[in-house]
Amino acid sequence: MDNRIYGIIGGTGPEGKGIALRLSRMGLNVTIGSRDKNKAKSTVEEISKILPDAKLNYDVNSLICKNSDILFLATPYVAQKSILQTNANQLTDKILINVVAPIEFKNGKFRAVYVPEGSAANQTQTLLPHTKVVSALQTISAKHLMEINKEVKSDVIVCSDFEDAKIIAMDLISKIPTLTTIDGGDLENSVYVENFTALLLNINKRYKVHSSIKILGV
Ligand SMILES: NC(=O)c1ccc[n+]([C@@H]2O[C@H](COP(=O)([O-])OP(=O)(O)OC[C@H]3O[C@@H](n4cnc5c(N)ncnc54)[C@H](OP(=O)(O)O)[C@@H]3O)[C@@H](O)[C@H]2O)c1
Repeated sequence: MDNRIYGIIGGTGPEGKGIALRLSRMGLNVTIGSRDKNKAKSTVEEISKILPDAKLNYDVNSLICKNSDILFLATPYVAQKSILQTNANQLTDKILINVVAPIEFKNGKFRAVYVPEGSAANQTQTLLPHTKVVSALQTISAKHLMEINKEVKSDVIVCSDFEDAKIIAMDLISKIPTLTTIDGGDLENSVYVENFTALLLNINKRYKVHSSIKILGV
C-alpha cells in the first residue's frame, strides 16, 4: 500500500491535472498545488467529478512542497526558478519529478529556450542540491493524460543523477496504461528530451495531432 502524498506544483494546469488524474486512478494520495488555494480547490472538484473516489487534497504550492513526499513540477519554465527558490527548504531530501519543457511559441513555431544550466531539470537540480530531481513526461501530452479511460501509447524517457529516485519514478510512471519507461541515464541527458519536445509540438501543429515517441530496439 502506497501511503505517500504526491504533490503537484502547478497542478491546476492541463499537464498537472492530467498527472493528478492518472495518479488518482491508481488510488494514490494526490495534492493539487497552486498560487491560489481556491483555484486548486476548483481543480480538485473537477477531478472528483471524473473520479469520485479520488483521494485528493489541495493547497498553495508552498504547503504542498512541505507536506508531500514526492512532487511533480508542472509549471511553465518561466515560473520554475522563483517557485523553487522560494520552496527550496521544503523540498530537501524529497524526490521532485520535473515535467517542464522550456519551450516558446514565436512566429508560428515552437522553439527550445536556452537554459544556462543545460536543461530545465538541470536548473532545478542546481537550485535544489539536496533534492533528488528526476526528469520525465515532457513528451506526454496533457490531452492524452486527461483522457482517463484511454491508454497513453508512448515511451517516457526518465533521467536522474539518483538511481533510487529514478527507479521510483519509473515504477510510478509505468503504472499509467500503457506507458513504457526508458532509463535515459543521468540528468544531463534531459536536455535532449526537453528539446525534442519542441520538435514534437511542431509535428503536432503540422499534422494536427498529439504525437508521442517510441524507442525501438531497447
Ligand atoms: N500541456 C502539455 O501538453 C504538456 C506536456 C508535457 C509537458 N508539459 C510541461 O508541463 C508544464 C505545465 O504545462 P501546462 O500546459 O499545464 O502549463 P500552464 O497551464 O501554462 O501552467 C500550469 C500551472 O502553472 C501555474 N503557473 C503559471 N504561470 C505561473 C507563474 N508565473 N508562476 C507560478 N505559477 C505559474 C498555474 O497555476 P496557478 O495559477 O494555479 O498557480 C498554471 O495553472 C510546462 O512546463 C510544460 O512544458 C506540458
